[in-house]
Amino acid sequence: MVFAKQEISVDLRRVLFEIAYALDAVGVDEIYHGHRVAYIAHRCAQQLNWSNEKAQFVFSLGLVHDCGVSDLNERNGLLSQLVPSDTNHHCIRGYELLSACQPLSSMATPILYHHTWWQDLKPLAGVSEEDKQLASLVFLADRLDNLRANANLDCYGNLSHQCKRNIAEELKANCDVMFETTQVNAMLELIECDDFWFSMEPRYIESLAEHFSYLPFFSLRIGLDESIEVAELFGKIVDAKSAFTYQHSLHVAQLAEYLGTQLGYPAYTTRMLYFAGLIHDIGKLKTPNRVLHKPGTLTDEEYICIKRHATDSRHVLQRIFANTEIIQWASNHHERLDGSGYPLGLDADELDEPSRLIAITDVFQALTQSRPYRAGLSLEKAIAIIRELVEQGKLDAELFRCLVANGEECYRISTGQTHVEPLLVCNGSL
Ligand SMILES: [Fe+2]
Ligand SMILES: [Fe+2]
Ligand SMILES: [Fe+2]
Repeated sequence: MVFAKQEISVDLRRVLFEIAYALDAVGVDEIYHGHRVAYIAHRCAQQLNWSNEKAQFVFSLGLVHDCGVSDLNERNGLLSQLVPSDTNHHCIRGYELLSACQPLSSMATPILYHHTWWQDLKPLAGVSEEDKQLASLVFLADRLDNLRANANLDCYGNLSHQCKRNIAEELKANCDVMFETTQVNAMLELIECDDFWFSMEPRYIESLAEHFSYLPFFSLRIGLDESIEVAELFGKIVDAKSAFTYQHSLHVAQLAEYLGTQLGYPAYTTRMLYFAGLIHDIGKLKTPNRVLHKPGTLTDEEYICIKRHATDSRHVLQRIFANTEIIQWASNHHERLDGSGYPLGLDADELDEPSRLIAITDVFQALTQSRPYRAGLSLEKAIAIIRELVEQGKLDAELFRCLVANGEECYRISTGQTHVEPLLVCNGSL
C-alpha cells in the first residue's frame, strides 16, 4: 500500500469552539457557559478599547477557560455560587493541559489565574501585566455569567431591570478586591446596554467569531506533532467525562501505531494512525454516561443512541481538521467489510487499510479492556471472537494475521500490562 504524506491543517478557532462544546458535554446543567464567557469578555475588551488581537485572545480564553474541570460535581460547584469553595484544582489542571499543548500554550498562564482575586493578582511577581489583565477579565466575565445564570428571568426569558441592578451592585461591591476597577466600570456600562444581553445567544456568538479579522495566531499551519498535542488535549477532556473512553482511545492509538509499524508503514503514517486512534471516539462526548457505561445488554433505543457517536466523531473532526484522510480512518471504525457496520454501511470497496486497521484495534481493545463491572477478556478469548468476525467477512484477514502474530505485544499495549500469558494457538490462520 502506498501512502502519500498528507498535510495536516488545523483550524484553531474551531478547535477552541469544539473544546467549549466538549466541556458542555462534561456538564449538563449550564450549557454554552464557555461561549458566553468568551462573548462577555470580548464585549468588555472592546469597551476597554483593547487591541483587536487582545480582544480576540480573551474571547479564546473564555471558550476554554474551564478546560481543567475534571467532573460534573466540580463544574456544578463552580456555577452555583459567586465564590466557589475550591477553584484551585481546575485552574491548575487547565494550566497543565494548555501548557502541554504547544499551539495553545500561551493561554496557560491567564487560565491559571482566572479565579485569583485582583488584590492578590495585582502584586504577583513573575506574571506579565497583560496576563494579569486577561486573567482578571476572564474572571469577571465568568462571574457575570454566574450571576446571570442565578438571576430570575422574566416570562419572556429576559433579565428585569431589578436583576441587572442587583448584578451591577454585586460587581461594584467587589471592585478592587475581587475584580479590577476599570474592567468593572466597563462592565457596568455594558450591563446598562440592552444589546449586550440580547446578543448573548450561542449562534450569534459563533457568527461573531466568524467575522473576526484575520490574526496570525489562528491561521498558523501546525504540523502533525502539534496536531497530536491538540488531540491529546481533547483526550484529556474526554477523560473528565469517561475515563474508560480515554483509556480505550489511548490504547487504540498505541495499538494502531504498533501494528502499522509491524506492517511496514512509513513512520509518518504510523503517527497518523496514532492520531486517528486518539480521536476516533470523540463523538462519545455526546453519549450519555448511563448508556456509555451500561454493564448489561443495550436496549434498541440505547444501541441507536450509541451508534450516533460515529457520525458525531466525523462531524467534530471535519470542523477541526481540514482535508485529511484521518477523518475517514477515525470515523469509519464501526464500518464492516461486508457492509453490516455503521453509520454509513460502507463495504470492502470503500474501506481503506488504515480504516480497517483502526476498526480491528478498536474491537481488540474493547474486548481486552477491564472495567469495574467486568474483567477484560484473555488474549485467547479476544482472538477467538475476532477470528469469528474475520470468518464472517467483517474484519480484515490480513490485519488479523498481523494481530495474531504479535498477539502478546498487542495484548500488553492494549491492557497496559507488563506480563502477558503467551498465546497457545499463535499461527494466525483462519
Ligand atoms: Fe467558568
Ligand atoms: Fe466507537
Ligand atoms: Fe472505540
